[in-house]
Amino acid sequence: MLLKEKVAVVTGAAQGIGLAIARTFTEHGARVVVADLSEEGAAGAARELGDSAWGIACDVSDEDSVRAAFSGAVDRYGRVDVLVNNAGITRDGMMHRMSVEDFRFVVDVHLQGTWLCSREALLHMRSREGGGSIVNLSSISGKVGNLGQSNYAAAKAGVIGMTKSVAREGARFGVRVNAIQPGLIRTAMTAAMPKDVLAASLESVPLGRPGEPVEVASSALFLASDLASYVTGVTLEVAGGRHM
Ligand code: NAI
Repeated sequence: MLLKEKVAVVTGAAQGIGLAIARTFTEHGARVVVADLSEEGAAGAARELGDSAWGIACDVSDEDSVRAAFSGAVDRYGRVDVLVNNAGITRDGMMHRMSVEDFRFVVDVHLQGTWLCSREALLHMRSREGGGSIVNLSSISGKVGNLGQSNYAAAKAGVIGMTKSVAREGARFGVRVNAIQPGLIRTAMTAAMPKDVLAASLESVPLGRPGEPVEVASSALFLASDLASYVTGVTLEVAGGRHM
């Protein structure tokens, strides 16, 4: 029960890694706001998770939508102790074929989305006792780059700089901010990869297999909980040793 009586907002939690994080958090005693672009997906995930979860529609790249989601969360549960910035999309393509719309879209969701949700969470967390924890989903792509991901890798590298800056700003209020860089994790995002690209990528994983969403969730749990009470501004790689 590492998050007993805590309230967590997890973005993009209708499926994949976000849903695994929401499930792990509820198993550890948290009440979880499942915030997702898909209202139906958020409601379905919350139903699956049970009484301690609540689904809400939220587009993390939209300021009004993020404000509404946080005030909804505070109205319902009284406070927010943990934010996980997990919502994400890909629009892969070699740069010479990538449109400026696909560049902006990916940056808007990952980078602006993380910024908007973190600002809302920090405003709330600094206004009361007890601090809080923010966990940002970056990616190994943001560390080493990736063919066809000039938009995504840039956004995910930006998330690391943002993590460190917000960690410095949040520290005086007891708010810790950390990031996770997952490698290849078995979700819809990686299922969309061509089979040969996936097989070639797996060869570079020392542990020799893709990760499971729950393995990212365990790391998010550690960073969100008091087990990590003296950990802030770090990036934890959950990648089976890939690109260590
Ligand atoms: P997924 O595609 O399975 O789920 C993403 C969720 O985010 C969906 O429920 C979607 O509706 C939601 N979403 C998309 N745009 C949104 C928006 N504007 N506002 C709110 N919600 C939105 O993705 P997956 O694989 O679970 O990835 C989760 C996070 O982990 C992402 O940030 C991704 O970039 C990161 N990641 C994933 C890796 C992988 O191997 N699957 C590797 C490295 C990082």
